[in-house]
Amino acid sequence: MVQVNENFLKLKAGYLFPEIGRRVTAFSQANPSAKIIRLGIGDVTEPLPPAVIKAMHQAVDDMAARETFKGYGPEQGYAFLREPIAEHDFAARGIDISADEIFISDGSKCDSGNILDILGSSNRIAISDPVYPVYVDTNVMAGHTGAADASGRFEGLVYLPGNEANNFVPELPSEPVDLIYLCYPNNPTGTVATKETLKGWVDYARANNALILFDAAYEAFISDPTIPHSIFEIEGAKEVAIEFRSFSKSIGFTGVRCGLTVVPKQLMGTTPAGEKVSLHQLWNRRQSTKFNGASYVVQKGAAAAYTAEGQAQMRGLVDFYMTNARLLREGLSKVGIKVFGGVNAPYVWLRTPKNLSSWDFFDLLLSQAHVVGTPGSGFGAAGEGYFRLSAFNSRQNVEESLERIFKVIG
Ligand code: MLT
Repeated sequence: MVQVNENFLKLKAGYLFPEIGRRVTAFSQANPSAKIIRLGIGDVTEPLPPAVIKAMHQAVDDMAARETFKGYGPEQGYAFLREPIAEHDFAARGIDISADEIFISDGSKCDSGNILDILGSSNRIAISDPVYPVYVDTNVMAGHTGAADASGRFEGLVYLPGNEANNFVPELPSEPVDLIYLCYPNNPTGTVATKETLKGWVDYARANNALILFDAAYEAFISDPTIPHSIFEIEGAKEVAIEFRSFSKSIGFTGVRCGLTVVPKQLMGTTPAGEKVSLHQLWNRRQSTKFNGASYVVQKGAAAAYTAEGQAQMRGLVDFYMTNARLLREGLSKVGIKVFGGVNAPYVWLRTPKNLSSWDFFDLLLSQAHVVGTPGSGFGAAGEGYFRLSAFNSRQNVEESLERIFKVIG
């Protein structure tokens, strides 16, 4: 008789976004004429930058000729992509990350879950609340937690609440932890961490031999020049942090799939016997065994984003979505809704009007405005009473969704 991983049975409901998808499908089946605008999942809508398209076309042509054909690529990624990343994303900001510390993958969501393969099972884990659900659910699946309580919090995790008082940037843990998930610019709240805040975390990690898993998937959306794009802008971070990055939102790769993980060579973990082990080597071993590399065509497309033309087009795409974010932020503020984020991140986080619960507000917007957002409580207990709107949509849909929301709550 085959046994299942019973940890999956501890998971509360479906993964948040498929759960929303199910509710929206049920609504649209019952109301087939409703034109639904989706500002729920942060999924891009605009075509890929032309420089990226051109490079991918050329890469397909490479596959059509024996002389240029590519079979298995390096599991860590091609140098033609790792090198420009090291140069543009790190060296240009004064950060010393070498190309061989960068592992190309099929996305930062996958990496942020897969990283648990190389970490032990008795780490004390700190997670912000609200939080991107993947960090929690992958730890539940790996058996790192007990059961969930009525509010959806899992026994064994250390939750760090984000709230209006701390501007959704949680304080350092009051108890010792070994593993810390940070995401800045933040999904879901759209808030950012200053250099001082990140320094506090790096200092904490150094003092407590902890590891920071830093998700920088939205760094391209930062407009404030004082806000760090990478944890490695903080001195000493290379000894205590792994960073995840993504091409999903910056060049529209949610469907194409490409991301990267930076594992510095000096980063060490510890065995139960106290022996130091290189996390870079473990991750390399994990990737070489379980992953065959992102596809050549995809990596060629991502590399084109680092040409002058590609950089300008990427900026145009980011600016387009950030104008949507500004329209959402300003429009909702005008009708008295309290909003956060949306300045250095493509998510607007709002307090639900009339003290509605997150899911009640979701139902109200879906049924009366035919607009889909994401209930804050889906990101954790501390998200109750809040709601997330994504700026990833066409301008017309963002403007129309605002008009419809005004009619419902105005
Ligand atoms: C979100 O809406 O939070 C993101 O699209 C999820 C993701 O990038 O996996």
